[in-house]
Amino acid sequence: MRIVLVGPPGAGKGTQAVRLAEKLAIPHISTGDLFRANISQQTELGKLAKSYMDAGNLVPDEVTIAMAKDRMEQPDAENGFLLDGFPRNVSQAQALDQLLQDERITLDAVLDLEVPEDEVVKRIAGRRICRNDSSHVFHVSYNAPKQEGVCDVCGGELYQRDDDREETVRTRLEVYHTQTEPIIDYYKAQGLVVTISSLGPVAEITERALEALKREK
Ligand code: AP5
Ligand code: ZN
Repeated sequence: MRIVLVGPPGAGKGTQAVRLAEKLAIPHISTGDLFRANISQQTELGKLAKSYMDAGNLVPDEVTIAMAKDRMEQPDAENGFLLDGFPRNVSQAQALDQLLQDERITLDAVLDLEVPEDEVVKRIAGRRICRNDSSHVFHVSYNAPKQEGVCDVCGGELYQRDDDREETVRTRLEVYHTQTEPIIDYYKAQGLVVTISSLGPVAEITERALEALKREK
């Protein structure tokens, strides 16, 4: 399957994407994780991305689209993928459509995770991620690691993301409403949007998502 995951910052996209990708046997492609890996490796792309991410703004389309395209062209993505955090505005959605058209493939669904804003703020405030791999995501009270400050998956050190500071979160939410939400209408026009609630236990939401995707097949 080829799926796009959409939802506000802190909706649980990364948390669900890891689980859904495993269940559906497709790679999880997160542009946020790709940027964070570039930042920790101190690449030129990482340096550029960091200045935008720390301010809560979108990284320019040109570099983002090139990076996503490169990742989608890897052999493991040949039979499907789960995109998390891309596309994030209408021009990225148009670029993705063009890419898919060139390959003569189509999306199966756009899974929209709905969650109230006060919940998002609580989730982001308590989020801790792993130094080794930013897709290893925890929450100090909702999804606590077995040992405080230590990643359950790989034993790495957990820390708070630089862009999870309160002020930056406000900008990220604003950017979501103004730039990302319009892609939901863009995909509704293509009949691809499936909306589910992202409230409740993590495992229940995964089941909800799988059920909703089954109906789309
Ligand atoms: P990105 O990394 O994509 O961040 P985001 O979209 O803001 O989403 P988050 O990672 O904040 O949240 P999430 O929905 O994944 O939630 P999570 O599962 O962690 O992007 C970061 C930045 O990179 C952007 O601001 C931008 O600068 C740049 N960027 C990325 N892509 C780009 C693009 N395409 N174009 C341009 N720029 C781009 O969960 C949150 C917390 O809640 C965790 O602590 C988790 O444990 C907890 N939690 C999860 N589920 C539950 C639950 N059911 N109940 C209770 N707690 C839960
Ligand atoms: Zn880890």
